[in-house]
Amino acid sequence: MTIGIGLLGLGTVGAGVAGILANPEGRHPLVGELALKRVAVRDLSRPRPVELAPELLTTDPEAVVDDPAVDIVVEVMGGLEPARSLILRAINAGKPVVTANKAVIARYGEEINAAAAAKGVYVLIEAAVGGGIPIIEPLKQSLGGNRIQRVSGIINGTTNYILSRMADEGAAYADVLADAQRLGYAEADPAADVQGGDAADKIAILAGLAYGGRVERAAIPTEGIDRLDSRDVAYAAQLGYGVKLLAVAQHLGADAVASGEAPHQLLDVRVHPTLVPKDHPLAGVHGVNNAILVEGDPVGRVMFYGPGAGAGPTSSAVVADILNIAGIRQVSGSQAQAPLDPLLAASSWRQCRLVDSSLTTHRNYVRLRTTDEAGVIGKIGSCFGQAGVSIQSIVQFERSAEAAEGRAEIVVITHDVQEAQFRAALGAIEALEEVQAVAACLRTL
Ligand code: NAP
Ligand code: HSE
Repeated sequence: MTIGIGLLGLGTVGAGVAGILANPEGRHPLVGELALKRVAVRDLSRPRPVELAPELLTTDPEAVVDDPAVDIVVEVMGGLEPARSLILRAINAGKPVVTANKAVIARYGEEINAAAAAKGVYVLIEAAVGGGIPIIEPLKQSLGGNRIQRVSGIINGTTNYILSRMADEGAAYADVLADAQRLGYAEADPAADVQGGDAADKIAILAGLAYGGRVERAAIPTEGIDRLDSRDVAYAAQLGYGVKLLAVAQHLGADAVASGEAPHQLLDVRVHPTLVPKDHPLAGVHGVNNAILVEGDPVGRVMFYGPGAGAGPTSSAVVADILNIAGIRQVSGSQAQAPLDPLLAASSWRQCRLVDSSLTTHRNYVRLRTTDEAGVIGKIGSCFGQAGVSIQSIVQFERSAEAAEGRAEIVVITHDVQEAQFRAALGAIEALEEVQAVAACLRTL
């Protein structure tokens, strides 16, 4: 039984998917049953890395969705619109959807899932997070028996590639970003990668699955690597840390509510550059690789690792979703309106709320620019002490340029402290006459 595939997009990911479908030998036999029927692109004249019959291509994506020969719609065009409307159009036509579009799912996942549930069709999103790493299905199915306490990790390949090459080769940020774009890792607008938005989309999706309720994407505190100073990467290395863009979703408990009301699950969800101790498993994740740590009861800690972006890994995940749907069609028959498998279909079963970030607790790295004179470190230490902030280490870095001008760079690493307390200490430090600037402030694992 041939299953017709409609591709919306033939860029990095779309061409990867078309390549797998065109060459089924040695893969699961179901791949041989998938036939590409229609493909939407923006520019018909653009050269493509895969050879396709010209009549398959169209610049009208609705024609792909509406084509009666298309049984499964694969959205790999990116952007919010028309991607969202095309996904909804496919669902309304009773066609299952596979998408790699985390931006759409993080913002419109609830609307899309409700439409899919009403129509009894699957919308599968394995490629939206972690590139080739299976993480969506494990969270929905394999780890379903757990209470998840924390999901954290490196979930943007572009920024990990940039940070790795900056740390290993001292490569310039702009050059490495251009390489990431050339290799097909970066988003169409790479600001989404370097400003942390792509990782925030992905952690919103992971947290929604792990904690069973929608996470408000716009409420996630997000900081990227675009303002990271290479001297902090160098100082961190001297102190025994690597710098990684981490996304974290931590379960903090549930709020108290009046009887009869369902409590909200309280979550600390955030994205920011983070100092990771060199002996931590995430510190060894280099290049375009991603890694996601899931901590649950009773499983303990499991880590998912692999290539997080690029044509091959991402199309592997897209085709896995297509095969899931194809397998179900084979069992239930194309016409049968079988009920959705509740573990494969996305579902919300409780409500989640992000806590006020000033109440969350973290370790911090602070770099201060000060005058180089006796007693400065003591005054800084007192400000932290008076605010109840415990210091793990305080180090003065000697740089000849600063020393020649009578200035110093002092780096402090704190123990765990509530964000509000830490900010109060920083306010007092900034007010010291000897402190010229709080030059950098990063989180530490
Ligand atoms: P891409 O290389 O920019 O490809 C986008 C494709 O969509 C192009 O073929 C483009 O046509 C087509 N397209 C865009 N807007 C269209 C429109 N309005 N009508 C018709 N065709 C349109 O993007 P990509 O890297 O493959 O990413 C696709 C999606 O996968 C995005 O949601 C992205 O976030 C996600 N994703 C990407 C990766 C990765 O490593 N690249 C990994 C995971 C997820 P033209 O070719 O004619 O311009
Ligand atoms: N731009 C994304 C990244 C693609 O670099 O991780 C994979 O989602």
